[in-house]
Amino acid sequence: MTIRRIVPFGTPVLHARTRPVERFDDELRLLVADMYETMDDAPGAGLAANQVGVDLRVFVYDCGPDARGCLVNPVLERLDGGLQDGGEGCLSAPGLGYPTPRALNVRCSGFDEHGVARVVTASGYLARCFQHEVDHLDGVVYVQRLGGKARRRAERDVVGSAWYQRSTVDF
Ligand code: NI
Repeated sequence: MTIRRIVPFGTPVLHARTRPVERFDDELRLLVADMYETMDDAPGAGLAANQVGVDLRVFVYDCGPDARGCLVNPVLERLDGGLQDGGEGCLSAPGLGYPTPRALNVRCSGFDEHGVARVVTASGYLARCFQHEVDHLDGVVYVQRLGGKARRRAERDVVGSAWYQRSTVDF
């Protein structure tokens, strides 16, 4: 297995919608194994495939005991329960973090790396992680979810960071 390079904000693959996985083959399982290793090494609570430059709808997560896994072709549903407050950060925007409102409860349906269907109902931190990762797969980085002053501050911070990849991406 290999630790893959995590691409920073501004890299085009992070800012485009990813493609559904069509084949549950060894190549996919190798990608998932590498993504676990890359996430654990970082370390991080989640990692989307486009963060390692792969244009596919896959993410892995590790939000504590019994909350580690992989979801392929995930579909996210926000459930009743309103919003949660809390901070968020991202391996593609290292060193930064901002309060980011998210739904408290979600359900995420998809498949594991072998093509077996999975449905995970999540609350709190895990629900936040799922929303963050599915946003990645839709080409959205969490700082782009912020509003008002926080958004302006985040934009200044991102553009001023050494890792920022200047590109045609609209913040
Ligand atoms: Ni992220």
